[in-house]
Amino acid sequence: MAGRFRQVILAAALACATGACDEKLGEVAGPTPDLEPTLSAIQRDIFNTTDSSGRAACIQCHSDNGRIAAANLVLLEGRSHASLVGRASGFKPGAVLVVPNSPDESYMIHKLEGRSDIVGQRMPRTGGPFLTDGQISIIRRWIELGARND
Ligand code: HEC
Repeated sequence: MAGRFRQVILAAALACATGACDEKLGEVAGPTPDLEPTLSAIQRDIFNTTDSSGRAACIQCHSDNGRIAAANLVLLEGRSHASLVGRASGFKPGAVLVVPNSPDESYMIHKLEGRSDIVGQRMPRTGGPFLTDGQISIIRRWIELGARND
Protein backbone atom coordinates (compact mmCIF):
# COMPACT_ATOMS: atom_id res chain seq x y z
CA MET A 1 0.00 0.00 0.00
CA ALA A 2 2.72 2.48 0.99
CA GLY A 3 4.60 1.65 -2.21
CA ARG A 4 1.51 2.26 -4.30
CA PHE A 5 0.88 5.61 -2.59
CA ARG A 6 4.46 6.66 -3.28
CA GLN A 7 4.06 5.74 -6.96
CA VAL A 8 1.00 8.01 -7.20
CA ILE A 9 2.92 10.93 -5.68
CA LEU A 10 5.82 10.34 -8.06
CA ALA A 11 3.46 10.14 -11.03
CA ALA A 12 1.84 13.43 -10.02
CA ALA A 13 5.18 15.20 -9.74
CA LEU A 14 6.41 13.71 -13.00
CA ALA A 15 3.25 14.70 -14.84
CA CYS A 16 4.66 18.23 -14.77
CA ALA A 17 8.17 17.15 -15.61
CA THR A 18 8.06 18.91 -18.95
CA GLY A 19 6.39 22.06 -17.65
CA ALA A 20 6.10 24.38 -14.74
CA CYS A 21 6.52 22.15 -11.71
CA ASP A 22 10.31 22.08 -11.44
CA GLU A 23 10.30 22.28 -7.66
CA LYS A 24 8.30 19.07 -7.32
CA LEU A 25 10.50 17.29 -9.83
CA GLY A 26 13.51 18.39 -7.79
CA GLU A 27 12.04 16.67 -4.73
CA VAL A 28 11.53 13.42 -6.65
CA ALA A 29 15.08 13.60 -8.01
CA GLY A 30 16.55 13.22 -4.49
CA PRO A 31 20.36 13.09 -4.51
CA THR A 32 20.47 14.37 -8.12
CA PRO A 33 18.27 17.51 -7.84
CA ASP A 34 18.77 18.57 -11.48
CA LEU A 35 17.78 15.20 -12.94
CA GLU A 36 15.13 15.50 -15.68
CA PRO A 37 13.55 12.95 -18.04
CA THR A 38 16.00 13.65 -20.87
CA LEU A 39 18.94 11.52 -21.95
CA SER A 40 21.38 14.40 -21.48
CA ALA A 41 20.35 14.79 -17.83
CA ILE A 42 20.41 11.02 -17.22
CA GLN A 43 23.83 10.87 -18.89
CA ARG A 44 25.18 13.70 -16.74
CA ASP A 45 23.68 12.72 -13.37
CA ILE A 46 23.43 8.91 -13.52
CA PHE A 47 25.68 7.35 -16.18
CA ASN A 48 28.67 9.70 -15.81
CA THR A 49 28.77 10.46 -12.13
CA THR A 50 28.15 9.32 -8.61
CA ASP A 51 25.89 11.36 -6.31
CA SER A 52 25.60 12.25 -2.63
CA SER A 53 24.18 8.79 -1.84
CA GLY A 54 27.53 7.25 -2.86
CA ARG A 55 25.97 5.30 -5.74
CA ALA A 56 28.49 4.21 -8.38
CA ALA A 57 28.67 5.92 -11.79
CA CYS A 58 27.61 3.49 -14.51
CA ILE A 59 30.63 4.28 -16.72
CA GLN A 60 32.91 3.10 -13.94
CA CYS A 61 32.23 -0.29 -15.58
CA HIS A 62 30.28 0.42 -18.77
CA SER A 63 33.14 2.10 -20.65
CA ASP A 64 35.50 0.71 -23.30
CA ASN A 65 38.06 3.42 -22.67
CA GLY A 66 41.23 1.29 -22.49
CA ARG A 67 39.36 -1.89 -21.58
CA ILE A 68 36.40 -4.06 -22.46
CA ALA A 69 33.12 -2.57 -21.26
CA ALA A 70 31.19 -4.59 -18.69
CA ALA A 71 28.54 -6.65 -20.50
CA ASN A 72 29.90 -5.06 -23.73
CA LEU A 73 27.53 -2.22 -22.89
CA VAL A 74 29.05 1.23 -23.44
CA LEU A 75 27.20 4.01 -21.61
CA LEU A 76 29.62 6.81 -22.52
CA GLU A 77 28.25 10.16 -23.66
CA GLY A 78 27.29 10.13 -27.34
CA ARG A 79 27.06 6.33 -27.41
CA SER A 80 24.59 5.42 -24.67
CA HIS A 81 21.47 5.97 -26.82
CA ALA A 82 22.64 3.55 -29.54
CA SER A 83 23.78 1.06 -26.87
CA LEU A 84 20.40 0.98 -25.15
CA VAL A 85 17.43 1.85 -27.34
CA GLY A 86 16.10 -1.16 -29.22
CA ARG A 87 19.16 -3.24 -28.30
CA ALA A 88 18.85 -6.85 -27.21
CA SER A 89 20.22 -7.96 -23.86
CA GLY A 90 23.35 -10.06 -24.20
CA PHE A 91 22.28 -12.14 -21.22
CA LYS A 92 18.51 -12.53 -21.17
CA PRO A 93 17.06 -13.99 -24.38
CA GLY A 94 14.21 -11.90 -25.78
CA ALA A 95 14.81 -8.93 -23.48
CA VAL A 96 15.37 -5.46 -24.97
CA LEU A 97 17.32 -2.92 -22.91
CA VAL A 98 15.13 0.11 -23.67
CA VAL A 99 11.79 -0.08 -25.50
CA PRO A 100 10.57 3.45 -26.37
CA ASN A 101 7.27 4.37 -24.64
CA SER A 102 7.33 1.21 -22.56
CA PRO A 103 9.35 1.32 -19.32
CA ASP A 104 7.91 -1.96 -18.07
CA GLU A 105 9.17 -3.78 -21.15
CA SER A 106 12.57 -2.09 -20.86
CA TYR A 107 15.01 -4.57 -19.35
CA MET A 108 17.32 -1.78 -18.10
CA ILE A 109 14.51 -0.75 -15.73
CA HIS A 110 14.24 -4.34 -14.46
CA LYS A 111 18.00 -4.30 -13.82
CA LEU A 112 17.82 -0.95 -11.97
CA GLU A 113 14.86 -2.08 -9.86
CA GLY A 114 16.42 -5.47 -9.12
CA ARG A 115 13.35 -7.40 -10.26
CA SER A 116 13.24 -11.15 -9.77
CA ASP A 117 13.26 -11.86 -13.53
CA ILE A 118 16.74 -10.45 -14.17
CA VAL A 119 19.79 -12.45 -15.23
CA GLY A 120 22.88 -11.39 -13.26
CA GLN A 121 22.71 -8.73 -10.58
CA ARG A 122 20.90 -5.50 -9.81
CA MET A 123 22.65 -2.38 -11.21
CA PRO A 124 24.90 -0.67 -10.26
CA ARG A 125 26.68 -3.98 -9.75
CA THR A 126 28.27 -2.86 -6.48
CA GLY A 127 25.63 -4.25 -4.09
CA GLY A 128 24.33 -0.69 -3.57
CA PRO A 129 23.66 2.12 -3.03
CA PHE A 130 21.14 1.69 -5.85
CA LEU A 131 19.13 4.40 -7.60
CA THR A 132 16.32 5.87 -5.51
CA ASP A 133 12.69 5.24 -6.50
CA GLY A 134 12.50 8.86 -7.65
CA GLN A 135 15.58 8.57 -9.87
CA ILE A 136 14.17 5.40 -11.43
CA SER A 137 10.80 7.14 -11.97
CA ILE A 138 12.50 9.92 -13.91
CA ILE A 139 14.30 7.39 -16.13
CA ARG A 140 10.98 5.58 -16.62
CA ARG A 141 9.46 8.92 -17.67
CA TRP A 142 12.22 9.48 -20.26
CA ILE A 143 11.30 6.08 -21.74
CA GLU A 144 7.54 6.88 -21.62
CA LEU A 145 8.23 10.09 -23.55
CA GLY A 146 9.82 8.01 -26.34
CA ALA A 147 13.42 7.44 -25.13
CA ARG A 148 14.64 10.21 -27.40
CA ASN A 149 18.26 11.16 -27.92
CA ASP A 150 17.52 14.48 -26.25
C1 HEC B 1 30.81 -2.32 -10.78
C2 HEC B 1 30.58 -2.43 -12.21
C3 HEC B 1 29.23 -1.99 -12.75
C4 HEC B 1 28.55 -0.83 -12.50
C5 HEC B 1 28.97 0.34 -11.61
C6 HEC B 1 27.35 -0.88 -13.29
N1 HEC B 1 27.30 -2.04 -14.00
FE1 HEC B 1 25.80 -2.63 -15.28
N2 HEC B 1 26.72 -4.44 -15.52
C7 HEC B 1 27.94 -4.80 -15.00
C8 HEC B 1 28.23 -6.18 -15.35
C9 HEC B 1 29.50 -6.95 -15.00
C10 HEC B 1 27.10 -6.67 -16.07
C11 HEC B 1 26.85 -8.09 -16.61
C12 HEC B 1 26.53 -9.05 -15.46
C13 HEC B 1 25.20 -8.73 -14.76
O1 HEC B 1 24.22 -8.41 -15.43
O2 HEC B 1 25.15 -8.82 -13.50
C14 HEC B 1 26.18 -5.53 -16.18
C15 HEC B 1 24.96 -5.56 -16.84
C16 HEC B 1 24.15 -4.46 -17.08
C17 HEC B 1 22.97 -4.46 -17.91
C18 HEC B 1 22.39 -5.65 -18.67
C19 HEC B 1 23.10 -5.81 -20.00
C20 HEC B 1 22.54 -6.94 -20.81
O3 HEC B 1 22.98 -7.06 -21.97
O4 HEC B 1 21.67 -7.68 -20.32
C21 HEC B 1 22.47 -3.20 -17.88
C22 HEC B 1 21.24 -2.69 -18.61
C23 HEC B 1 23.32 -2.41 -17.03
N3 HEC B 1 24.34 -3.19 -16.57
C24 HEC B 1 23.13 -1.06 -16.75
C25 HEC B 1 23.85 -0.38 -15.79
C26 HEC B 1 23.53 0.97 -15.37
C27 HEC B 1 22.41 1.82 -15.96
C28 HEC B 1 24.42 1.29 -14.38
C29 HEC B 1 24.47 2.55 -13.56
C30 HEC B 1 23.25 2.90 -12.83
C31 HEC B 1 25.31 0.16 -14.22
N4 HEC B 1 24.93 -0.83 -15.09
C32 HEC B 1 26.39 0.13 -13.33
C33 HEC B 1 28.77 -4.00 -14.24
C34 HEC B 1 28.43 -2.75 -13.71
